[in-house]
Amino acid sequence: MTVPFDIERVKSSLPDRRIDWYPSVGSTMTEASRLAADDCPSGTVVGADEQTAGLGRYGRTWHSEPGAGIYVSIVLRYPFSPDALPVVTLALGLATAEAILKTTDLACDLRWPNDVLIQSRKCGGILTQIEGSAIIAGIGINVNHSAFPQDLSVVATSLRIGSGRTHSRERLLVELIHSVESFCSLLEKEGRAPILAMFTRASSFVTGRKVSVDQGEVMLRGTTAGLTESGFLILHGDDGKSNVIIAGGVRPCS
Ligand code: BTN
Repeated sequence: MTVPFDIERVKSSLPDRRIDWYPSVGSTMTEASRLAADDCPSGTVVGADEQTAGLGRYGRTWHSEPGAGIYVSIVLRYPFSPDALPVVTLALGLATAEAILKTTDLACDLRWPNDVLIQSRKCGGILTQIEGSAIIAGIGINVNHSAFPQDLSVVATSLRIGSGRTHSRERLLVELIHSVESFCSLLEKEGRAPILAMFTRASSFVTGRKVSVDQGEVMLRGTTAGLTESGFLILHGDDGKSNVIIAGGVRPCS
């Protein structure tokens, strides 16, 4: 059953904010990039009840069932240098997990760099993109999905499946916007160290985890050994070599 999103409820909790809401849109990333190019203020939110061409990482699509999830892109204008983008992505993961915890009591795991997990399955993902001097923070959360298409059913979950009850998408969105701003402000004021430390604590994947890392041409296997100052993952390979993982799908090895 599709439950309409009460955007007025969200707007009344965030009265001074520009929020563009679409019943259906291709991708909120495209709309937010367009607004950022037109100099919209920091914190502008573009969201949709449905995406018909939701974007995931590596050119994948993001399953965006109508009326069930949160699909938003937030325009961020902070004085971060472009090389801070990996740490911004980690901060957004922390913000998403915090908003989920506050709204639903569900404690999420974070899989470097950008997957939000419940019971080892993905319930949320982060996509960051640069548009001029702005960062576009794309966040997708599977909230009230009761099932997924067959190709996703083994890897995906939702807050509803994880908790056995439905959740207010409006409350979660308001909390998410507050959390995103508080983690970005922390990064701005205190630098990268607190975000790296918090992500390391919040993620079961950052230290001492046996994983495989898909590097396209090669599959690396080894044990994770923390984050670099740039927010990249350190992997001590089973072959004895140390690797700094800049990108790539990390999966647990049994
Ligand atoms: C990933 O884990 O692959 C990243 C998924 C990001 C999905 C969100 S949904 C809102 C925003 N609009 C998009 O088209 N993608 C991001």
